[in-house]
Order: sequence, then C-alpha cells, then structure tokens
Amino acid sequence: MAASASAAGFVATRTPRKALEPWRLAGGYSDPRQRALSYALLAPSAHNLQPWIAELIGVDRIRLHRDPALNLPETDPFDRQLTISMGCFLELLRIAAAQDGYTTQITLFPEGGDMIVADIVFSEGTEPDPLADGIMTRRSCKEPFEDRALAGEVVEALQPYAKIVTDKEEVQNIKALSWEAWQIEARTPHTMKESVDLMRFGKAEINATPDGIDLGGPFLEALMLAGQITPEAQMNPESMSFKTGVSIYEEMLQATPAYAVITTPGNSRLEQLDAGRQWLRLNLATTLAGVALHPISQCLQEFPEMADVYARAQDLMGADGEVVQMLGRLGYGPQTPQTPRWPLDAKLKNA
Ligand SMILES: Cc1cc2nc3c(=O)[nH]c(=O)nc-3n(C[C@H](O)[C@H](O)[C@H](O)COP(=O)(O)O)c2cc1C
Repeated sequence: MAASASAAGFVATRTPRKALEPWRLAGGYSDPRQRALSYALLAPSAHNLQPWIAELIGVDRIRLHRDPALNLPETDPFDRQLTISMGCFLELLRIAAAQDGYTTQITLFPEGGDMIVADIVFSEGTEPDPLADGIMTRRSCKEPFEDRALAGEVVEALQPYAKIVTDKEEVQNIKALSWEAWQIEARTPHTMKESVDLMRFGKAEINATPDGIDLGGPFLEALMLAGQITPEAQMNPESMSFKTGVSIYEEMLQATPAYAVITTPGNSRLEQLDAGRQWLRLNLATTLAGVALHPISQCLQEFPEMADVYARAQDLMGADGEVVQMLGRLGYGPQTPQTPRWPLDAKLKNA
C-alpha cells in the first residue's frame, strides 16, 4: 500500500505540468480570437513542432503565419507535412471560434506566398460544429491497438472524413510498407538525427522546450538516469535503447486492424492545407466515435532513401493518381496523456 502510494507520487512528480499548462488554459481569454487560438494550438503537428505564429490585427482579424524557423529539412524537405500541420491548426481555430459563436471568414495564402497562411476575420453569429466536443480529448495514439475489427457503425461514421481501409489484404500490404518505411527512416543517419535532435529527454527538458518528441514518465526517466537512454544511444543501431525502440515500434505498427487515408487530386499548397483540415476533422470524429488514430508518415516522406517506398505507397493508396497526404493507424487504443504545447503568448507575433 505504502509502496504503491509512493510510486503514484513519483509518477505525479514526473508529469511535466508546465508543458501541459496550455491544455488547462484553453478557453480562458477575454478576446474571442485568443480564446479560439488557445484551442487551436492544441492541434496535432508533425513532430509536435507547432509551426504556427498568430498576429492579431485590429479588433477582429488574425494573420496566421508559418514559422520560418521551424522546419524538417531531412524528413519533410518540401514542407508538405508542415503545411498539413497548419491546416490542422486552421480547422481547429475555425471549430473553436464557431463553438464560441463566431464565424471565421478565411482567406488562404492572402499574399500569394506560402508562409502567410491565412487571414481570418471574426464576426459574431454562427452554428457550433458538433466535432468541437472532441477537442480536449483528441490524441495521436502511439500505442498498439486491440486485436479487434472496427465496428461497422464506426467505419460508416468515419467514411465521410477519409478512406477507411479494413480489407485484410489491403491492411496487410499497408502494414508491411509502413514497417519497411519506419526502418528506413530510423536507419538513415541524417533522418534519424533530425528526430533525435527533436527529442526532449525527461521532465526538465520537456518543460523548458514543450515541443518535439517528448520522452518522459518515470520508466523512461529511470533509464535516462541509468545512462541507457541518451541522444548518442538513440543514434546507434547497436545500442540497447535503439533496439528496444525498434521492437516497440514493430509491435505497435503490427497491432493495427485498420487505416485511414487522406488523398488530394494534386499536391498544391492549397490541397496540402485542405488535407490538414480534413485530418483534424477525422481526428475529432475518431475521438467522438471512441476509436484511436495515429498518423504514420514515414512512407510518405520525400527524402531520397525513401523514394522507392514513397512510390509504392502512392501506388497502393492513391487511387486514380491521387496524392496520398496522410496515413493513420486506426483501431481501439488507450486514451494517452496530453502532449506538451508552447503557451499562447509564445505563439503571438505581437505579444
Ligand atoms: C502532418 C503530421 C504528420 C505526423 N506524422 C507522425 C508520424 O509519422 N508518427 C507519429 O508518431 N506521429 C505523427 N504525427 C502526430 C504528432 O506527433 C502529434 O500530433 C504531436 O506529437 C502532438 O500530439 P497529439 O496529436 O496527441 O496532440 C503527425 C502529425 C501531423 C499533423
């Protein structure tokens, strides 16, 4: 009893509370634009980079920028995933504003370039979007899923948002490709280094830099203290921590009963943004349907060592020459913890 009470106490003390503050503060602002932004920053983004910057203009406008300092030159050389991430943010902003009674008039890429993503004008009066109920519990679930097929009514509920793949052979083909792709990314030094550089090791680092890949919790922190999980070990395919990572990922990728795929006719910035908006709606819909969703982007990455797998992924999932923009594992999984976010102030251009 005493042992489990103190173990629970230890778990609680390892929670990076500061990095999770934005979840608690969401909605607590007097300016409706800041209220909506405080929810929008809970959006998913590639490597949790949170590449957004919001500029408040006048009394009713937001200019949304993509941060030029945040990019993934190795795994996302054409900023495709970052643009999709901006789409996720924009759609969550729209839904949060509507929940609060505001219409958002959105002009995409108002200056023609792709770094000023949107001008958004707020005005009073609109209908809420039922997907808003999923905002606080939405997650990217990076866990093995249960060995059970998706219920028919879940597949039906999700079909308006994405192509839902449940056919056994198709699922098997995507699974094999996603595992091959994961290994290529992990065993290619320049792409692995990009991920390792974004890893935050333990509570202090996560609180200081609340983005990237957060490695926390009592178990991992104990291994860090023992010197078994370090940036160097993560880069070394012969190390125990690298090998453990490989087996954790293999088990997780295998434990997948279904997939969700989002495609667009072409690959323009507008279509990438739209794919992000669709992904966000899908992720809220999975949340409300009680199923877990996990983006897996490795086979869609555009670095040279992935070129062959990328081409096969497009053939496999992109019917009629459509471009596959997002792929996600879909199934029954646990509710995972909230992930870190920078506070709103850190993301306001004119704060
Ligand atoms: C465009 C995009 C690509 C992503 N790719 C991956 C991926 O390949 N693997 C992964 O585990 N998570 C991926 N994610 C999920 C992010 O890691 C996740 O959104 C972020 O860590 C925040 O966590 P949350 O979505 O649970 O709030 C991706 C998210 C987006 C928007």
